[in-house]
Amino acid sequence: MASHALILLQIIVLSSLAATAFSLSPYYYKNICPQALPTIKTLVEAAVYKERRMGASLLRLHFHDCFVNGCDASILLDPSPTIDSEKGALANQNSARGFEVIDEIKAEVDKICGRPVVSCADILAVAARDSVVALGGPSWKVRLGRRDSTTASRTQADIDIPSPLMDLPALINNFRNQGLNQRDLVALSGGHTIGFAQCLAFRGRIYNATNIDPSFAKERRATCPRTGGDTTLAPLDSTAARFDTAYFNSLVKQRGLLTSDQALFSGGSTDNLVNTYRLYPQVFRKDFAQSMIKMGNIKYLTGNQGQIRANCRMVNN
Ligand code: HEM
Repeated sequence: MASHALILLQIIVLSSLAATAFSLSPYYYKNICPQALPTIKTLVEAAVYKERRMGASLLRLHFHDCFVNGCDASILLDPSPTIDSEKGALANQNSARGFEVIDEIKAEVDKICGRPVVSCADILAVAARDSVVALGGPSWKVRLGRRDSTTASRTQADIDIPSPLMDLPALINNFRNQGLNQRDLVALSGGHTIGFAQCLAFRGRIYNATNIDPSFAKERRATCPRTGGDTTLAPLDSTAARFDTAYFNSLVKQRGLLTSDQALFSGGSTDNLVNTYRLYPQVFRKDFAQSMIKMGNIKYLTGNQGQIRANCRMVNN
């Protein structure tokens, strides 16, 4: 009897040890390199001060990292004979940005820590949070201890990163494949409260959609012609440099910029949540933070999986 209890105790202790060793923790760098997080914050703030849009771009990088084989910094790998770079994927090419800021952060953090101990995947997660905070959004404790991949997949990026042309069922399905529910979908789409999109991404909507405010369509057509001007930018909501709830207000007014934005308020199952977030900013802020933590948990590498890259753009040799 006593020996059974002992074995049970051993199992409990061992499995909780295993859980600590392989699950993420906000305190991961507390002893390894206490200066890591303050350094990232300072550099993100400087980058956002220099260009407000950079906050949006850094948030998006973390999202595009996590949706393709998990949050493992695969998006940062440059093309090489052995790397099928995700930078060439449809959603990233001539669109994903902020790579130089991540390089700068990585160099500075490694210098301050004395050696490469902070993963590129963790830098992306912390930079996303610090960007949101710098633009007036909510804060959260970023879980840390991710390791970096040694591979990338453009093919997978093209499959997993959602398209701006998706309707609600397609978006729900896309997020479900990542273990995220409808609440996560609406909360995280609220990331579009900051940043910009290129004409190419919303042209179809402003010329053909019926669920669009005509005066908004006209406004957007002025800088996004039927042909040409593919890369001209338009704000994703009316306050693109501020993390607020204007995005959800715009959806209710049929002023969503992307088809996938307006899909969240078009008579479907997510209408109620859009109204909740619009009317109760605190609920949106809390849910956004919670869903960002959930997104940051997608298929990360720990223990002896992957590596800590010395240069975020390439695998260690
Ligand atoms: C729900 C599915 C989503 C779709 C279809 C989508 C699509 C897009 C598209 C097409 C752009 C414009 C890119 C360009 O024109 O170059 C964009 C921008 C952006 N997206 Fe999303 N997105 C989605 C979800 C998210 C999520 C979950 C986040 C973050 C939590 C996010 C954050 C951003 C940000 C911040 C920008 C602006 C980037 C900048 O200005 O550099 N998006 N998105």
